[in-house]
Amino acid sequence: MRTYEEPAPRTGAALGAAAGRREGREKVSGAARYAGEHHLSGRVYGWPVPAGIARGRVTGVDTSAALALPGVLAVLTPGDAPRLAEPDDATLALLQNPRVPHRGWCVALAVAETPESARDAARAVRVTYAREPHDAGLRPDHPDAYEPEEANGGQPGRLELGDPAAAFAAAPVRVDTAYRVPPLHNHPMEPHTTTADWDGDRLTVYTSSQGGTTVRSVLAGLFRLPEEQITVIAEHVGGGFGSKGTPRPDVVLAAMAARRTGRPVTVAFPRRHLPTTVGHRAPTLHRLRLGATPDGRLIALLHEVTTHTSRVKEFVEQAAVPSRVMYAAPHLLSTHTVVPLDVPTPSWMRAPGEAPGMYALESAMDELAGALGLDPVELRIRNEPERDPGTGSPFSSRHLVECLREGARRFGWDRRDPRPGTRADGPLLLGTGVAAATYPVMVSPSTATATALPDGTFVVRVNASDIGTGARTVLAQVAADALHVPLDRVRTEVGRTDLPPAPLAGGSSGTASWGWAVHEACTDLAARLAALTGPLPTEGIETRADTTGRADADTPYARHAFGAHFAEVAVDTVTGETRVRRLLGVYAAGRILNARTARSQFVGGMTMGLGMALTEGSTLDRPFGDFTEADLASYHVPAHADVPDIEADWIEEDDPHLNPMGSKGIGEIGIVGTAAAIGNAVHHATGIRFRDLPLTPDRIL
Ligand code: MOS
Repeated sequence: MRTYEEPAPRTGAALGAAAGRREGREKVSGAARYAGEHHLSGRVYGWPVPAGIARGRVTGVDTSAALALPGVLAVLTPGDAPRLAEPDDATLALLQNPRVPHRGWCVALAVAETPESARDAARAVRVTYAREPHDAGLRPDHPDAYEPEEANGGQPGRLELGDPAAAFAAAPVRVDTAYRVPPLHNHPMEPHTTTADWDGDRLTVYTSSQGGTTVRSVLAGLFRLPEEQITVIAEHVGGGFGSKGTPRPDVVLAAMAARRTGRPVTVAFPRRHLPTTVGHRAPTLHRLRLGATPDGRLIALLHEVTTHTSRVKEFVEQAAVPSRVMYAAPHLLSTHTVVPLDVPTPSWMRAPGEAPGMYALESAMDELAGALGLDPVELRIRNEPERDPGTGSPFSSRHLVECLREGARRFGWDRRDPRPGTRADGPLLLGTGVAAATYPVMVSPSTATATALPDGTFVVRVNASDIGTGARTVLAQVAADALHVPLDRVRTEVGRTDLPPAPLAGGSSGTASWGWAVHEACTDLAARLAALTGPLPTEGIETRADTTGRADADTPYARHAFGAHFAEVAVDTVTGETRVRRLLGVYAAGRILNARTARSQFVGGMTMGLGMALTEGSTLDRPFGDFTEADLASYHVPAHADVPDIEADWIEEDDPHLNPMGSKGIGEIGIVGTAAAIGNAVHHATGIRFRDLPLTPDRIL
């Protein structure tokens, strides 16, 4: 039985400083090595062959033409690839049987001396199939639709409080509306890449991952090896946004190909393979019903989400979950319906659940404000709950109202004329919009060591993942803070499984999880040093911390970060183009541990939210069974020119119920609500409510 204890109070003053990224110079000078840049002797390259049908099975693979090409070593097929143990994650059961569950599923892997010869070989592989009819069409009344017991994150699929349908029907003011968020792709800068190298029964993989500890345990299971025989190195990672949270096919394919050929093998997924291979944000259909009193108090809030998953495994984007946290409504319904289809398997993408869910909820709140004739900031403030609506628990801290007020003040919200469609600047229509943001506080057990060396420096070791966030830097700050030493005396080692085990960089929980262990190891070390009589031993002193049983203890509190987004847009009535002129985010996310890297995280999230609002969207082509936007020429992520004035700031929040640093996660909340703020601004500009993302010119005109 775990019991909840308050984390030990934080110490020192090194936290919060705007320290620059420690690996910045290595990165900009090209010295930082990514997963495909480990030039092992004899290294060769694997290139996957994607399935050319949407459903069925492979009846034959003719490898003769491929094998006849120069430099080709092997072609792995479903018939002859190394046999793996059955994985928990069925998307990793690669080349184990002839089944084709969706278009793009890997049906062979060509291995050759150069990436170019591997690509040519992959193209020369002739695969024959037995086709079966497929179904890639998402609709709420699909005969296979069902309500899952759980949505992602262990959340109950359905939550119902009071009598929401009757309360809505009887409410004096009602909004009944629907929104659609299309499939979205993570598209990190560095596509998924693994270099695998066997030495007898020892396996080393260099991989682009948000969490090497999981990669190791999954490989150990698949290849039936003790974990000690596997080393996973992920020193530098070019972004992930959730798509590298668990091992993806590159890891398994590289390890199988290296096993087969006896050579180190790099599998670097081509950009065009990512949408089908590494997961996507599943499309979500939202029905929102809000019932309120004439003075703007919610009586009923009903949020029903329909989404898809693949036939390979169940993945339920928990998009109705944020509606359980935001507003005081005595009658609450929040449900998920999922339809298994013959489509690529969806997966985690930045703020899974909250990003699409809050687009819908915060757009509906704007519609309700319009129906009430009430300012949308004021509407939110009027519905501020005293306790977490879904669980009834007290919040550990909640400063949404402060974020809304501070954001409104800085944005100049009080000068806003609420009437939609009334401000023109030549052919441009101008408008402003607001939306709230939230993201849960998550934390997992971690271990870490801290070592004091005789030269007066310190080393902190933890298998954290720095996916571009600055994890090395902030962990050094946590350590220096607990040790009461200057930051430049602390070195951090991260990104290897021969370091103390640690959880992944996901769920905005990395810094809290690793930092808790680092803080404890360093606090312990400081005490040991203070008690030391005589000189430090030549090998130094090392302390180890393990937060198991505490970081994962049940808490009596509802713990969430909150924020507010404000947007100003100009909508061109000639071209249909929407440009964001200003974007402001104000957050309350506990203690901010590094002002510079935190701001970058917030701004990065907001930029991704801007893409979600205006440019990013993928089309699942029903007859084809695959996405049509498979590259960055067709899937439009925002560029700098799309983001002229974007500002992120925060309210200092003192929350003793989190972790020793007092921090909440910051990696995901920036994307939450941003698309709604922009959509609400487009409504304010044009007087027209668009309910399908993205708001591209063809929709606007
Ligand atoms: Mo994030 S989608 O939890 O890696």
